[in-house]
Amino acid sequence: MATTIDGKQVAASVIEAVKSATTALEKDAGVKPGLAVVIVGDDPASHAYVGAKSRMSKECGFTSVQHTLPEETTQEELARLVETLNGDDSIHGILVQLPLPKHLDSDPIIQSIKPEKDVDGLHVVNAGKVATGDLDGGLVSCTPAGAMVFVRRTHGNDLSGLNAVVIGRSNLFGKPMSALLLATNATVTTAHSRTKDLAGVCRNADILVAAVGRAEMVKADWVKPGATVIDVGINRITTAEGKSRLVGDVAFEECAKVAGVITPVPGGVGPMTIAMLMANTVIAAYRKAGRTPPKF
Ligand code: GUN
Repeated sequence: MATTIDGKQVAASVIEAVKSATTALEKDAGVKPGLAVVIVGDDPASHAYVGAKSRMSKECGFTSVQHTLPEETTQEELARLVETLNGDDSIHGILVQLPLPKHLDSDPIIQSIKPEKDVDGLHVVNAGKVATGDLDGGLVSCTPAGAMVFVRRTHGNDLSGLNAVVIGRSNLFGKPMSALLLATNATVTTAHSRTKDLAGVCRNADILVAAVGRAEMVKADWVKPGATVIDVGINRITTAEGKSRLVGDVAFEECAKVAGVITPVPGGVGPMTIAMLMANTVIAAYRKAGRTPPKF
C-alpha cells in the first residue's frame, strides 16, 4: 500500500519557511514583501481562490493588496493597473487571476507584468528560464514548483537514473513540469492524448505525473509497482448516489495499492499552489533587496 502525501502538511511547512524568510528580510533589510492580486468580474470560483491567496499573504506577513475590478473593465484600464503595480516599489509580486472575462485578452496583460514581479511564472521570460534550466534566475510557476517539492522530498535533489512520465503538455503545467524533472536529471517522457500505448509508457515511470483533466483516467495497471504518483487533476464528478465529488486524473484507491507514494485529490498538489505563490513572492522581494533568496 502506498504512502499518501499530505499536501496540506507539506504546504504548511513551506508557509512556515516563508514566514521565517519574511521576518528575516524585514529585520535585515527593512523590506516587507508585497503581493498584489488582481481579479476582474464576478466568477465565484475565482473570487474564492483570490480570497484564499489574499488571506494567506497576510498570514505570511506580506503587504497584501487586492484589486477587485468590475466585469466591464476595459483592456486599457487593466493594462494601466498592471503598469502602476509594475512601478510600485512596495509590490514585489503581481498576480492577475485567470480566466479573465471573455472580452479581455489575457496574454498581453500577463506579458506586460515585469518578469521579476511575475510570481505566477507565466511570463515568457520566466517560462524560458525554466525551459533552459536557469532555475535560480527566474520564477517557476506555482503548480509545477509545488509538484517538484513532493518529488524532491521523496527522491532527493538528484533524479539520475529515474524515469519520469508527465501526462499532459500544456504551457501551464506539462511543459514546465517536464523541464523541471529534466533539470533534476530524470529521464523524461512528455505523454499526451496522441501518445501510442499510453498505459505502457506510464508503466515505465518511476515518477508518474498526471495532468490531463480526465477523471480517474490512470488505472492501477498503468502504475509501476513502487512508483511515485503525483495527481495534478481536479475533476468534479457526480457519483452513483447523485453526490458531487472532486477526483483527480488518477483512480486513487486502486493505484494506491500499486504505487509506493501517491498524492490525493483534494489535499495533494492543490494546497501547494498557494504555498509556492507565497514562496515566489518572498523570493522576488529578496532579489529586489539584493539578497540571496531561500530555496523552498
Ligand atoms: N486561475 C486558476 N489557477 C490560477 C493560477 O495559478 N494563476 C492565475 N493567475 N490564475 C489562476
